[in-house]
Amino acid sequence: MDKSKIKNKKVLITGGLGFVGSNLAIKLVELGADVLIIDNMLPRQGGNMFNIEPVKDKVKINISDIRNPTSMNHLVKGMDYIFHIAGQVNHVDSVKDPLNDLSINVEGTLVLMEALKNNNPSAKVIFTGTRGEYGSSLTLPVSESHAINPIGIYAITNFAAERIVLTYNNLHKIKSLCLRITNTFGPRHQMAHDEYGVFNWFIRKAMDSEVIPIFGDGRILRDYLYIDDLVNSLVQIALSEEAYGDVYNIGSGKPLSFVELAEMIIKIAGKGKVNYTEFTSERKALEPGDYYADITKITNMIPWKPVTGLEEGIRATISYYEKNRKHYW
Ligand SMILES: NC(=O)c1ccc[n+]([C@@H]2O[C@H](COP(=O)([O-])OP(=O)(O)OC[C@H]3O[C@@H](n4cnc5c(N)ncnc54)[C@H](O)[C@@H]3O)[C@@H](O)[C@H]2O)c1
Repeated sequence: MDKSKIKNKKVLITGGLGFVGSNLAIKLVELGADVLIIDNMLPRQGGNMFNIEPVKDKVKINISDIRNPTSMNHLVKGMDYIFHIAGQVNHVDSVKDPLNDLSINVEGTLVLMEALKNNNPSAKVIFTGTRGEYGSSLTLPVSESHAINPIGIYAITNFAAERIVLTYNNLHKIKSLCLRITNTFGPRHQMAHDEYGVFNWFIRKAMDSEVIPIFGDGRILRDYLYIDDLVNSLVQIALSEEAYGDVYNIGSGKPLSFVELAEMIIKIAGKGKVNYTEFTSERKALEPGDYYADITKITNMIPWKPVTGLEEGIRATISYYEKNRKHYW
């Protein structure tokens, strides 16, 4: 796949000051794209101006809310690609304030797609949904044809947003594709709290020589992906004409238990320790159990596969936060 095809393309990233969006913005600038970021710096989420420090003079930033039709009608004009990454992602907040989750993830997506329909229907849309849309796995690994049974409002609103995006693809011919992304970790994730992003939180705890809390026996399996691998898949799938109109899993495809993960982080950091604790009733109710992705569909579509080993990713993440701790702690 020739990634240089993105050169000089006009790319809008919603949520571009957050973890996924900022890492993508840095990559796109490196590839020569003309990047506009929209972000409202939603409190208690990952928006952080320092995230785009390496490209701050090379991207345009518009601090606005994706739910504002006046802004969105104007900002989508002339764009070639829209990476729709903005979202309410805080699991705790989605339980406390489900209407806000609905408003950002569903209404926000509708405002964006309406803005495109009315002002720029030839733009292509890449939507970053979550593996949470599947809920509890009935079979493993989980392929795209697995039943959808989301647990919790965050996963439900992500699935609704995915269906909205695909409906605009089918009904209004706005070329769109949707991703169900696994747990991703790496530099530029928020490190302020444990309300989402468990992998990065474990890294913070180890770096601070603190206890890593493991709920239950820690044997639940997850699929963890390093951010650079995710970003590479996003760029490649966006450039793949045949990929539009469909849904793809993105993950490493490799299962790892929480306790194995914690032990690996502690070994690499050289500090921290594990402590087993009971699930809170809220966490238990939202826990879907084992998950790892079947990534056959995306690897058949684009010449991509995850290349960053977990140990290498953990080292790179620790190194980033050692240098930039004051912007995240
Ligand atoms: N990080 C992961 O492991 C992961 C896994 C699966 C899916 N995803 C999806 O990727 C997307 C981004 O996740 P992330 O980890 O980068 O989160 P993040 O919190 O780091 O970034 C989200 C960004 O969206 C912005 N935002 C929120 N509401 C907005 C609004 N109304 N208008 C404009 N901007 C708004 C926030 O300010 C923040 O900068 C989410 O949709 C999430 O569901 C992430």
